Amino acid sequence: MQKYYLTTPIYYVNDKPHIGHAYTTILADTLARYRALLGEDPIFLTGLDEHGLKVQQAAEKNGKSPKDHCDDMAPAFINLWEKLNIQYSDFIRTTEERHTTIVQKILDEVYQNGDIYIDEYEGWYSVSEERFITDKELDSGKFGQVKKIKEKNYFFKMSKYQTKLIEKIETDELLIQPLSRKNEVLGFLRNKLSDLCISRPKSRLEWGIELPFDKEYVTYVWFDALINYVSAIGAFNDTENFERLWPADVHLIGKDILTTHSVYWPTMLLSLNMPLPKQIFAHGWWLTDNEKMSKSLGNVVSPLLLIDDFGVDAVRYYLMSEMVLGMDATFSSESFEKKYNSDLANDFGNLVSRVSTLINNNFDSKIPIPSTMESDLANNYKKINLKDSLDNLAIDKVINDTMTFIRSINVFMEKNEPWKLVKEDKKKAGHILFHCAEALRLSAILLSPVMPSKSNDILKILGTKEKSLAWGQLKPSSSITLSKPIFPRIN
Ligand code: ME8
Ligand code: MG
Repeated sequence: MQKYYLTTPIYYVNDKPHIGHAYTTILADTLARYRALLGEDPIFLTGLDEHGLKVQQAAEKNGKSPKDHCDDMAPAFINLWEKLNIQYSDFIRTTEERHTTIVQKILDEVYQNGDIYIDEYEGWYSVSEERFITDKELDSGKFGQVKKIKEKNYFFKMSKYQTKLIEKIETDELLIQPLSRKNEVLGFLRNKLSDLCISRPKSRLEWGIELPFDKEYVTYVWFDALINYVSAIGAFNDTENFERLWPADVHLIGKDILTTHSVYWPTMLLSLNMPLPKQIFAHGWWLTDNEKMSKSLGNVVSPLLLIDDFGVDAVRYYLMSEMVLGMDATFSSESFEKKYNSDLANDFGNLVSRVSTLINNNFDSKIPIPSTMESDLANNYKKINLKDSLDNLAIDKVINDTMTFIRSINVFMEKNEPWKLVKEDKKKAGHILFHCAEALRLSAILLSPVMPSKSNDILKILGTKEKSLAWGQLKPSSSITLSKPIFPRIN
């Protein structure tokens, strides 16, 4: 089986997860389920970023040790993922030994290669980004609280790999998507890269992984965090597993962490002489009132409340369909309710009820027999190119195409009026209803990665377990069950 290794960012445990974190994680889960539907073997990694200043400060604020703080925060993520029906293959926490030992191993390796040196540096430091910024970045004024810091630190020779990195990005050997983000990175790389400060003196930050070659320092949180993508799958440890899974097929991230993933991470890998990830996909932001939803702005929407109100599949559906991949999207309860009522309650849910009721009342609850496997619906179905959309990670397109298909089932019903036809030509009515039921089966399967449990409910109503994507697999004469509303309207 073809493996497909995909990752989400590992989230900071400085606060509870919000819709933004839920989005990337649902996106990864949905993609993984689609890859499985295509017959591949998805390996899906997520986890938590537990070191660094932000976490240390959050722990201090709560009067806890950093490790206790992390242990207390981890369930907020793990439980939410369970509620959201997230089926990750592995969950990594950067405080785990399987991670810390590999970070030290890699630091040693890069040090031995001569790509780490010590230097005294004076520069502007962004507190929120936890890194030194360039003068140009300072001038942009986008970095919030900054302070001038002068200290001895260890540096990674990132600049040494600039030319090589540009080449890998330009040729798409490292594919950065969408194109606008690729151009953004290439633009950034037009200026000379500086080397990356990868240490923090313990006097300033204690909560980190100690440098193996200097006990007075801990590792910069990003040098630690990015390594999770390889430590989790056995780099420098379980070689066989590592070589099967690496390079990653895609790192899914938000556009806020584009530079760390597209510049820091690949240059680290180049120094280690390891293959680069095949693809980095940076999605846009969820906004509330035109501002990025973020912990620091305090404008976050809790996924838990939404799940309680609307059910997990409705939440997954809204997030996956409302954000055009790569673009920002605005979260509002109005747009949530509108989308739910029009797509799920009206178009999809009502159709399931109508078709199952007609079959129930006129065909003794048995799937009727079609005269042929040909119909307008069969033709419409064949126009959907699942593989193409998925290769572009365009889940919103898969959903749109499927909704268009579902609307065409409604049109097909209006055109053929099976409720009238049963009285005049029952055989033909049966043919029509078979095709409607088969189209509903395939719609449920096409949306099953987005709405796993509702899709199963629909397949149950249709009395089938058949997951094949081929047209015409529904068994005539099999029994259906009567549907209660799958997606009750919200008012
Ligand atoms: O940056 N809209 O963690 P983090 C969409 N630990 N996505 C959003 C979002 C929003 N408003 N807000 C957050 C870190 N996200 C590092 C990552 S990886 C080696 C280390 C999502 O807790 C999005 O995926 O700040 C974003 O990139 C990520 O959460 C940042 O999470
Ligand atoms: Mg952040």
